Amino acid sequence: MVTKTYKIDKDNIKLPLIKEVAHILCEGGLVAFPTETVYGLGANALDIDAASKIYMAKGRPSDNPLIVHIAHKEDVEKLVTNIPENAKLLMDKFWPGPLTIIFNKSEIVPYGVTGNLETVGIRMPDHSVALAIIDEAGVPIAAPSANTSTRPSPTKASHVLEDLDGRINAIVDGGDVNIGIESTIVDVTSEIPVILRPGYITKAEIEQVIGLVNIDKAILNNKNADSFIAKAPGMKYKHYAPRGEMLIVEGKEENVVCKINELAKEKIKLGKKVGIIATEETKDLYEDGIIISLGRRVDELDITRHLFNTLRELDTLEIEYIFSEGFTNDSVGQAIMNRLLKAAGHNIIKV
Ligand code: TXA
Ligand code: MG
Repeated sequence: MVTKTYKIDKDNIKLPLIKEVAHILCEGGLVAFPTETVYGLGANALDIDAASKIYMAKGRPSDNPLIVHIAHKEDVEKLVTNIPENAKLLMDKFWPGPLTIIFNKSEIVPYGVTGNLETVGIRMPDHSVALAIIDEAGVPIAAPSANTSTRPSPTKASHVLEDLDGRINAIVDGGDVNIGIESTIVDVTSEIPVILRPGYITKAEIEQVIGLVNIDKAILNNKNADSFIAKAPGMKYKHYAPRGEMLIVEGKEENVVCKINELAKEKIKLGKKVGIIATEETKDLYEDGIIISLGRRVDELDITRHLFNTLRELDTLEIEYIFSEGFTNDSVGQAIMNRLLKAAGHNIIKV
């Protein structure tokens, strides 16, 4: 299959191109497109055959449900059995935006999309290109991140092509995404809502709108988290792992820098290729290895935006050992640490 590329500027949307892309989706094809979080790999969510092609293209386990994307808040109604009051409040506050809400699914949502669950995750992305495509297709669009399974989620069109060129019908190149990590997932089907995946919208921001929410124990940022079964099936799989061995060093900045310098020197002496994941504040303090800054530590969006690209870059550079600084475990830092810990296979030391 030849993957066709469509370049569509989010500030100057060309309707004829959107129509072509929407047509591919309506015919049961696969189209990757940008959202504000990461690139998604879209298919008609109401067409089981189309959705099953997503699993094939990504090499994704079939029990891992897909998020359904909509272009209008009202589109939720047909897809769910009921909309709880707290979900209405969340939709009003955060949609369009990086929040996926888990509802009890209605009959029209195929089990082939929900990994056989009775629930469905729904989100309205905050991206003009994504919204135009979904609106024009006139059907809800199932879209996981457009990477092959286990690789970091794509934040640029080139990442999608790296993984899926020749395996999907088309990609819409709308430039780099804004946020760079996947949506926060909140399940509102239980008495007290539960966050199943941390993201750019934080627990505190959600609690401001609907009061107390819990956080799924399986995503707490500690080693024990692995002994809990994740309620979002996708959270249990190996993810984002670079090919090199990765270690996170956590603690006071000067201790972290000192330890990473020491570890890097040790490996370089053995002839190994070392990469260091640093920040603007610290990058000049490292002495050896390939140093990549994620951005300014004080600016969370700067960090989230560059995280997955950095993990991919380390692979391209064939880095064998990666040492990364840690991040605080609150606010957006919780989502950043969640992704880093998964990438490192929970390999972390405190100094
Ligand atoms: O930002 C995002 O959410 C991106 C963009 C493309 O929208 N999508 C994304 O999809 O990250 P994916 O498939 O890579 O991750 C979806 C996660 C998985 O961990 C999956 O298990 C969970 O959502 N999920 C989906 N439906 C669910 C459900 N009904 N119950 C529990 N977890 C669900
Ligand atoms: Mg994914």
